[in-house]
Amino acid sequence: MSAALLAVDGLVKRFGGLVAVRDVSFTVNRGNIVGLIGINGAGKTTLMNCVNGIYRTDSGRVTFDGHDITRRTPHEIAAHGVGRTFQVPRTFHRLSLIDNLMIPVLGSDLSDAELTEQAEACLARVNLYDLRGNNGEELSGGQQKLLELARVMMFDPRLILLDEPFAGVNPSLCRIMIHEIEAMRAAGTTFLLVSHDLTSIYRLSNHLLVLNQGEIIAEGGVADVRDNPDVIEAYLGN
Ligand SMILES: Nc1ncnc2c1ncn2[C@@H]1O[C@H](COP(=O)(O)OP(=O)(O)OP(=O)(O)O)[C@@H](O)[C@H]1O
Ligand SMILES: [Mg+2]
Repeated sequence: MSAALLAVDGLVKRFGGLVAVRDVSFTVNRGNIVGLIGINGAGKTTLMNCVNGIYRTDSGRVTFDGHDITRRTPHEIAAHGVGRTFQVPRTFHRLSLIDNLMIPVLGSDLSDAELTEQAEACLARVNLYDLRGNNGEELSGGQQKLLELARVMMFDPRLILLDEPFAGVNPSLCRIMIHEIEAMRAAGTTFLLVSHDLTSIYRLSNHLLVLNQGEIIAEGGVADVRDNPDVIEAYLGN
C-alpha cells in the first residue's frame, strides 16, 4: 500500500486565458494534514474543485488510493471516500440542521433513527446541538462553517478537503474545530487544509504547500516554508 492517499500530477486548470492552476504536483500521505496556503486568488479553491470533480481539469491526473479519479463526477469522487467543506458555506436554508446533515447520507442503509442519532452527535461535536431543529437560514456565517464541518463528519470520508474552515469563526469555536480535526486525524482521516489562519494551519499541518499564481513555489515543514524568501516575497511583496 502506497503512503500517498492522494496524488496530484501535473494538474492544469484554465479559465479562458487565465491559468488558475499551472502544472501542480503533490502528494498527501495517509493520516497527514497537508496545509495549502497562498494569497487571495492563488488558485487554492480551484485546485480543490479539480480534486473533487467540481471543475473538469484541462490536463494532469488525480489519483486517490490508487484509483484514477481525474474528471470523475463529484458524486463518484465522494463515493470513493473524498469529502469536502466549502469556503462559502452551502447551507440548505429551508432545512433543519439535522436535515442539512442528512444530505450526504441519502440512500444510506441505516435507519432514520440511527442517522438522526449520528447527526445529533456530529452537531454536538461542533457546538450546534441546541440549534438542531432550527432552519439553516437562522445560522450566522461562523455557525454555517461549523455546520460544514459537521456535515462532512456524517459520512466519515477517508480524505477531507477543508476550504477556509476557520474564516469568520470566533477563537473559542476555532479551538473546538481544531480539536475535532485532530481527533479525526487521530482516528485515521487524512486532510488537505486551506486557510489564511496561519497560526492554526502551522499548528495542524505535517506538511505545507505554498501556491502562488497557480504554481507551487515552496513545500516542506512549517519551519522551511515560513522562512523561505520566495514565500515571504509572495505574501509581502518586495
Ligand atoms: N469559475 C471561475 N471562472 C473564472 N475565473 C475563476 C473561476 N474560479 C476562479 N477563478 C480565478 O482563478 C484564480 C484563482 O481563484 P481561486 O478562487 O482558486 O483562488 P484562492 O486561492 O482560493 O483565493 P482566496 O484565498 O481568495 O479564496 C483567480 O484569478 C480567480 O479569479
Ligand atoms: Mg479560495
